[in-house]
Amino acid sequence: MRPFQLTRTLPEDATGAALRADVLHGLTRAPKSLPPKWFYDARGSELFEEITRLPDYYPTRAEREILADRAADIAAATGAHTLVELGSGSSEKTRLLLDALPTPLTYIPVDVSESALTGAADGLLADHPDLRVHALIADFTRVLELPEAPGPRLVAFLGGTIGNLLPAERAEFLTSVRKLMAPGDSLLIGTDLVKEESVLVRAYDDPTGVTAAFNKNVLDVIDRELDADFDPDDFDHVALWNREEEWIEMRLRARRDVVVKIPELDLVVPFAAGEELRTEISAKFREEGVRAELSAAGFVPGHWWTDAAGRFALSLATAG
Ligand SMILES: C[S@@+](CC[C@H](N)C(=O)[O-])C[C@H]1O[C@@H](n2cnc3c(N)ncnc32)[C@H](O)[C@@H]1O
Repeated sequence: MRPFQLTRTLPEDATGAALRADVLHGLTRAPKSLPPKWFYDARGSELFEEITRLPDYYPTRAEREILADRAADIAAATGAHTLVELGSGSSEKTRLLLDALPTPLTYIPVDVSESALTGAADGLLADHPDLRVHALIADFTRVLELPEAPGPRLVAFLGGTIGNLLPAERAEFLTSVRKLMAPGDSLLIGTDLVKEESVLVRAYDDPTGVTAAFNKNVLDVIDRELDADFDPDDFDHVALWNREEEWIEMRLRARRDVVVKIPELDLVVPFAAGEELRTEISAKFREEGVRAELSAAGFVPGHWWTDAAGRFALSLATAG
Protein backbone atom coordinates (compact mmCIF):
# COMPACT_ATOMS: atom_id res chain seq x y z
CA MET A 1 0.00 0.00 0.00
CA ARG A 2 1.34 3.45 -0.94
CA PRO A 3 2.03 5.55 2.19
CA PHE A 4 0.23 8.87 2.39
CA GLN A 5 1.80 12.24 3.08
CA LEU A 6 0.53 14.20 6.06
CA THR A 7 1.34 17.91 6.30
CA ARG A 8 0.56 20.16 9.21
CA THR A 9 0.18 23.64 7.74
CA LEU A 10 -0.42 25.20 11.12
CA PRO A 11 2.48 26.04 13.44
CA GLU A 12 2.75 23.57 16.38
CA ASP A 13 0.84 25.71 18.88
CA ALA A 14 -1.53 27.35 16.38
CA THR A 15 -4.46 25.19 17.48
CA GLY A 16 -3.84 25.93 21.16
CA ALA A 17 -3.42 29.65 20.53
CA ALA A 18 -6.53 29.79 18.34
CA LEU A 19 -8.60 27.85 20.92
CA ARG A 20 -7.49 30.23 23.67
CA ALA A 21 -8.36 33.26 21.53
CA ASP A 22 -11.77 31.85 20.53
CA VAL A 23 -12.68 30.82 24.08
CA LEU A 24 -11.59 34.17 25.53
CA HIS A 25 -13.53 36.09 22.88
CA GLY A 26 -16.57 33.81 22.78
CA LEU A 27 -17.15 33.36 26.51
CA THR A 28 -16.66 37.01 27.49
CA ARG A 29 -19.21 38.44 25.05
CA ALA A 30 -22.99 38.48 25.23
CA PRO A 31 -24.54 36.27 23.97
CA LYS A 32 -21.79 33.68 24.44
CA SER A 33 -20.71 31.67 21.40
CA LEU A 34 -17.94 29.39 20.13
CA PRO A 35 -16.93 28.39 16.58
CA PRO A 36 -17.94 24.81 15.70
CA LYS A 37 -14.46 23.64 14.65
CA TRP A 38 -13.67 22.91 18.33
CA PHE A 39 -16.12 19.97 18.40
CA TYR A 40 -13.78 17.90 16.32
CA ASP A 41 -11.15 16.21 18.46
CA ALA A 42 -10.92 12.42 17.97
CA ARG A 43 -14.06 11.81 20.08
CA GLY A 44 -15.97 14.63 18.35
CA SER A 45 -15.10 13.23 14.92
CA GLU A 46 -16.37 9.80 16.02
CA LEU A 47 -19.57 11.31 17.39
CA PHE A 48 -20.15 13.16 14.13
CA GLU A 49 -19.85 9.86 12.25
CA GLU A 50 -22.48 8.40 14.64
CA ILE A 51 -24.74 11.37 13.88
CA THR A 52 -24.51 10.65 10.15
CA ARG A 53 -26.02 7.19 10.82
CA LEU A 54 -28.99 8.46 12.89
CA PRO A 55 -32.39 7.79 11.29
CA ASP A 56 -33.44 11.47 11.42
CA TYR A 57 -30.11 12.88 10.21
CA TYR A 58 -31.00 12.91 6.50
CA PRO A 59 -28.23 15.22 5.05
CA THR A 60 -25.56 12.51 4.73
CA ARG A 61 -27.92 10.02 3.09
CA ALA A 62 -29.38 12.67 0.77
CA GLU A 63 -25.95 13.89 -0.32
CA ARG A 64 -24.76 10.31 -0.84
CA GLU A 65 -27.80 9.70 -3.07
CA ILE A 66 -26.88 12.69 -5.25
CA LEU A 67 -23.22 11.66 -5.44
CA ALA A 68 -24.20 8.11 -6.42
CA ASP A 69 -26.40 9.50 -9.22
CA ARG A 70 -24.05 12.24 -10.40
CA ALA A 71 -20.44 11.16 -9.77
CA ALA A 72 -19.98 10.21 -13.43
CA ASP A 73 -21.42 13.57 -14.56
CA ILE A 74 -19.12 15.39 -12.12
CA ALA A 75 -16.10 13.48 -13.42
CA ALA A 76 -17.05 14.23 -17.04
CA ALA A 77 -17.78 17.91 -16.39
CA THR A 78 -14.60 18.60 -14.42
CA GLY A 79 -12.04 16.20 -15.95
CA ALA A 80 -10.29 16.53 -12.59
CA HIS A 81 -6.95 14.84 -11.89
CA THR A 82 -6.81 16.20 -8.35
CA LEU A 83 -9.58 16.20 -5.78
CA VAL A 84 -9.15 18.64 -2.89
CA GLU A 85 -11.70 18.11 -0.12
CA LEU A 86 -12.21 20.71 2.60
CA GLY A 87 -13.49 19.43 5.97
CA SER A 88 -13.13 15.89 4.64
CA GLY A 89 -13.81 14.04 7.93
CA SER A 90 -14.13 10.29 7.29
CA SER A 91 -14.14 10.81 3.46
CA GLU A 92 -16.84 8.10 3.29
CA LYS A 93 -19.06 9.71 0.62
CA THR A 94 -15.95 10.86 -1.21
CA ARG A 95 -15.37 7.26 -2.27
CA LEU A 96 -18.16 7.73 -4.83
CA LEU A 97 -16.20 10.58 -6.44
CA LEU A 98 -12.86 8.77 -6.23
CA ASP A 99 -14.39 5.76 -8.01
CA ALA A 100 -15.68 7.98 -10.85
CA LEU A 101 -12.65 10.26 -11.39
CA PRO A 102 -9.88 9.18 -13.81
CA THR A 103 -6.64 7.61 -12.60
CA PRO A 104 -3.97 8.54 -11.70
CA LEU A 105 -5.67 10.71 -9.15
CA THR A 106 -4.32 12.88 -6.34
CA TYR A 107 -6.53 13.33 -3.29
CA ILE A 108 -5.86 16.22 -0.89
CA PRO A 109 -8.14 15.95 2.16
CA VAL A 110 -8.03 19.01 4.44
CA ASP A 111 -9.31 18.88 8.01
CA VAL A 112 -8.56 20.18 11.51
CA SER A 113 -8.99 16.63 12.86
CA GLU A 114 -5.76 14.66 12.50
CA SER A 115 -7.44 11.43 13.63
CA ALA A 116 -10.15 11.80 10.96
CA LEU A 117 -7.51 12.44 8.27
CA THR A 118 -5.29 9.48 9.15
CA GLY A 119 -8.25 7.09 9.61
CA ALA A 120 -9.72 8.15 6.26
CA ALA A 121 -6.40 7.95 4.39
CA ASP A 122 -5.66 4.45 5.71
CA GLY A 123 -9.12 3.22 4.73
CA LEU A 124 -9.03 4.80 1.26
CA LEU A 125 -5.58 3.49 0.41
CA ALA A 126 -6.59 -0.03 1.36
CA ASP A 127 -9.25 0.15 -1.38
CA HIS A 128 -7.48 2.48 -3.85
CA PRO A 129 -3.80 1.48 -3.70
CA ASP A 130 -2.90 3.76 -6.64
CA LEU A 131 -4.40 6.89 -5.13
CA ARG A 132 -1.89 9.63 -4.21
CA VAL A 133 -3.00 11.02 -0.89
CA HIS A 134 -1.56 14.20 0.56
CA ALA A 135 -3.53 15.03 3.70
CA LEU A 136 -3.40 18.52 5.18
CA ILE A 137 -4.06 19.33 8.81
CA ALA A 138 -5.31 22.85 8.29
CA ASP A 139 -8.04 25.33 9.14
CA PHE A 140 -10.03 26.04 5.98
CA THR A 141 -11.13 29.43 7.34
CA ARG A 142 -7.49 30.58 7.13
CA VAL A 143 -5.43 31.11 4.01
CA LEU A 144 -4.68 27.64 2.64
CA GLU A 145 -1.54 26.61 0.85
CA LEU A 146 -2.23 23.55 -1.27
CA PRO A 147 0.55 21.20 -2.37
CA GLU A 148 1.49 21.08 -6.05
CA ALA A 149 -0.81 18.64 -7.86
CA PRO A 150 -1.88 18.06 -11.45
CA GLY A 151 -4.85 20.02 -12.81
CA PRO A 152 -7.61 20.40 -13.45
CA ARG A 153 -8.51 20.34 -9.77
CA LEU A 154 -11.91 19.78 -8.23
CA VAL A 155 -12.39 21.35 -4.79
CA ALA A 156 -15.21 19.63 -2.87
CA PHE A 157 -16.86 20.99 0.26
CA LEU A 158 -19.44 18.42 1.27
CA GLY A 159 -21.74 17.64 4.18
CA GLY A 160 -23.37 21.07 4.29
CA THR A 161 -20.34 22.26 6.31
CA ILE A 162 -20.48 25.62 4.52
CA GLY A 163 -23.67 26.23 6.51
CA ASN A 164 -21.58 26.33 9.71
CA LEU A 165 -20.15 29.67 8.58
CA LEU A 166 -21.96 32.95 9.13
CA PRO A 167 -22.93 34.77 5.89
CA ALA A 168 -19.96 37.21 6.05
CA GLU A 169 -17.58 34.31 6.85
CA ARG A 170 -19.03 32.35 3.90
CA ALA A 171 -18.35 35.24 1.53
CA GLU A 172 -14.78 35.54 2.78
CA PHE A 173 -14.28 31.76 2.63
CA LEU A 174 -15.62 31.41 -0.93
CA THR A 175 -13.50 34.33 -2.11
CA SER A 176 -10.36 32.78 -0.63
CA VAL A 177 -11.19 29.37 -2.17
CA ARG A 178 -11.69 31.10 -5.52
CA LYS A 179 -8.19 32.59 -5.19
CA LEU A 180 -6.74 29.08 -4.78
CA MET A 181 -8.20 28.01 -8.10
CA ALA A 182 -6.93 28.27 -11.67
CA PRO A 183 -9.03 28.56 -14.86
CA GLY A 184 -10.52 25.12 -15.58
CA ASP A 185 -10.75 24.15 -11.88
CA SER A 186 -14.18 23.45 -10.35
CA LEU A 187 -15.92 23.71 -7.01
CA LEU A 188 -18.46 21.16 -5.75
CA ILE A 189 -20.44 22.31 -2.78
CA GLY A 190 -23.06 20.48 -0.67
CA THR A 191 -25.83 22.58 0.86
CA ASP A 192 -28.73 21.49 3.03
CA LEU A 193 -32.00 23.10 1.91
CA VAL A 194 -34.71 25.05 3.74
CA LYS A 195 -37.54 22.70 4.70
CA GLU A 196 -40.17 22.02 7.33
CA GLU A 197 -39.03 23.07 10.81
CA SER A 198 -39.88 19.76 12.52
CA VAL A 199 -37.73 17.79 10.06
CA LEU A 200 -34.82 20.16 10.58
CA VAL A 201 -35.01 20.19 14.37
CA ARG A 202 -35.30 16.38 14.59
CA ALA A 203 -32.07 16.09 12.57
CA TYR A 204 -30.24 18.05 15.28
CA ASP A 205 -31.94 16.69 18.40
CA ASP A 206 -32.10 12.91 18.37
CA PRO A 207 -33.79 10.98 21.18
CA THR A 208 -30.69 8.82 21.76
CA GLY A 209 -28.60 11.83 22.80
CA VAL A 210 -25.78 11.41 20.26
CA THR A 211 -26.10 15.01 19.04
CA ALA A 212 -26.25 16.22 22.65
CA ALA A 213 -22.99 14.35 23.38
CA PHE A 214 -21.43 15.87 20.24
CA ASN A 215 -22.53 19.35 21.32
CA LYS A 216 -21.22 18.92 24.87
CA ASN A 217 -17.92 17.53 23.57
CA VAL A 218 -16.72 21.10 23.07
CA LEU A 219 -16.82 21.51 26.87
CA ASP A 220 -14.61 18.42 27.29
CA VAL A 221 -12.18 19.87 24.74
CA ILE A 222 -11.96 23.15 26.71
CA ASP A 223 -11.58 21.23 30.00
CA ARG A 224 -8.76 19.12 28.60
CA GLU A 225 -6.91 21.77 26.61
CA LEU A 226 -7.34 24.76 28.93
CA ASP A 227 -7.64 22.96 32.28
CA ALA A 228 -11.19 24.33 32.69
CA ASP A 229 -13.81 22.83 35.02
CA PHE A 230 -16.94 22.72 32.83
CA ASP A 231 -19.26 19.91 33.96
CA PRO A 232 -21.18 18.91 30.81
CA ASP A 233 -24.04 17.73 33.07
CA ASP A 234 -24.63 21.38 34.03
CA PHE A 235 -25.85 22.06 30.46
CA ASP A 236 -28.72 20.94 28.24
CA HIS A 237 -28.43 20.47 24.50
CA VAL A 238 -30.75 22.82 22.58
CA ALA A 239 -31.49 22.80 18.82
CA LEU A 240 -33.78 25.45 17.39
CA TRP A 241 -34.77 26.81 14.00
CA ASN A 242 -34.05 30.51 13.49
CA ARG A 243 -36.73 31.29 10.93
CA GLU A 244 -35.46 34.77 10.10
CA GLU A 245 -31.88 33.72 9.42
CA GLU A 246 -32.92 30.32 8.04
CA TRP A 247 -30.42 28.42 10.15
CA ILE A 248 -30.47 25.79 12.87
CA GLU A 249 -28.71 26.86 16.05
CA MET A 250 -27.19 24.43 18.49
CA ARG A 251 -26.79 25.82 21.94
CA LEU A 252 -25.84 24.65 25.44
CA ARG A 253 -28.23 25.97 28.10
CA ALA A 254 -27.09 26.22 31.76
CA ARG A 255 -29.35 24.11 33.99
CA ARG A 256 -28.55 26.30 37.01
CA ASP A 257 -26.23 29.17 37.93
CA VAL A 258 -22.77 27.92 37.00
CA VAL A 259 -19.33 29.44 37.49
CA VAL A 260 -16.60 27.97 35.29
CA LYS A 261 -12.89 28.47 35.95
CA ILE A 262 -10.47 28.46 33.01
CA PRO A 263 -7.03 28.73 34.64
CA GLU A 264 -5.09 28.73 31.33
CA LEU A 265 -6.85 32.00 30.48
CA ASP A 266 -6.95 33.32 34.01
CA LEU A 267 -10.69 33.58 33.43
CA VAL A 268 -13.84 32.94 35.46
CA VAL A 269 -17.03 32.65 33.40
CA PRO A 270 -20.41 32.95 35.08
CA PHE A 271 -23.53 31.43 33.45
CA ALA A 272 -26.93 32.41 34.84
CA ALA A 273 -29.47 29.56 35.00
CA GLY A 274 -31.05 29.33 31.53
CA GLU A 275 -28.23 31.25 29.84
CA GLU A 276 -27.21 29.82 26.48
CA LEU A 277 -23.91 29.36 24.70
CA ARG A 278 -24.25 29.10 20.89
CA THR A 279 -21.97 26.35 19.63
CA GLU A 280 -23.01 25.99 15.97
CA ILE A 281 -25.18 27.41 13.28
CA SER A 282 -26.17 25.24 10.33
CA ALA A 283 -27.57 27.45 7.61
CA LYS A 284 -30.12 26.03 5.18
CA PHE A 285 -30.12 27.29 1.61
CA ARG A 286 -32.23 28.04 -1.46
CA GLU A 287 -30.97 27.69 -5.04
CA GLU A 288 -30.99 31.39 -5.86
CA GLY A 289 -29.04 32.22 -2.70
CA VAL A 290 -26.33 29.64 -3.39
CA ARG A 291 -25.94 30.83 -6.99
CA ALA A 292 -25.72 34.45 -5.87
CA GLU A 293 -23.06 33.68 -3.23
CA LEU A 294 -20.99 31.69 -5.74
CA SER A 295 -21.21 34.48 -8.34
CA ALA A 296 -20.31 37.14 -5.76
CA ALA A 297 -17.11 35.17 -4.97
CA GLY A 298 -16.13 35.06 -8.65
CA PHE A 299 -17.35 31.56 -9.55
CA VAL A 300 -19.52 30.68 -12.52
CA PRO A 301 -22.38 28.58 -11.10
CA GLY A 302 -23.36 25.57 -13.20
CA HIS A 303 -25.19 22.34 -12.30
CA TRP A 304 -27.61 22.22 -9.38
CA TRP A 305 -28.59 18.68 -8.38
CA THR A 306 -30.86 17.61 -5.53
CA ASP A 307 -31.84 14.23 -4.08
CA ALA A 308 -35.21 12.85 -5.18
CA ALA A 309 -36.96 14.26 -2.10
CA GLY A 310 -35.42 17.74 -2.66
CA ARG A 311 -33.81 17.88 0.78
CA PHE A 312 -30.18 18.57 -0.12
CA ALA A 313 -28.31 20.02 -3.12
CA LEU A 314 -24.93 19.70 -4.77
CA SER A 315 -23.77 22.66 -6.86
CA LEU A 316 -20.97 22.54 -9.37
CA ALA A 317 -19.28 25.82 -10.26
CA THR A 318 -16.25 26.69 -12.32
CA ALA A 319 -13.45 29.06 -11.60
CA GLY A 320 -14.26 30.79 -14.87
C1 LIG B 1 -20.01 18.46 9.40
S1 LIG B 1 -18.51 17.55 9.31
C2 LIG B 1 -18.57 16.96 7.62
C3 LIG B 1 -17.62 15.81 7.36
C4 LIG B 1 -17.69 15.26 5.91
N1 LIG B 1 -17.27 16.26 4.94
C5 LIG B 1 -19.09 14.79 5.59
O1 LIG B 1 -19.67 15.31 4.65
O2 LIG B 1 -19.58 13.89 6.28
C6 LIG B 1 -17.34 18.87 9.24
C7 LIG B 1 -15.88 18.45 9.03
O3 LIG B 1 -15.10 19.63 8.84
C8 LIG B 1 -14.01 19.66 9.75
N2 LIG B 1 -13.83 21.07 10.10
C9 LIG B 1 -14.69 21.88 10.78
N3 LIG B 1 -14.23 23.13 10.84
C10 LIG B 1 -13.04 23.12 10.16
C11 LIG B 1 -12.07 24.13 9.84
N4 LIG B 1 -12.25 25.41 10.22
N5 LIG B 1 -10.98 23.78 9.11
C12 LIG B 1 -10.80 22.49 8.69
N6 LIG B 1 -11.68 21.49 8.97
C13 LIG B 1 -12.78 21.81 9.69
C14 LIG B 1 -14.40 18.79 10.92
O4 LIG B 1 -13.27 18.25 11.59
C15 LIG B 1 -15.25 17.73 10.22
O5 LIG B 1 -14.47 16.65 9.77
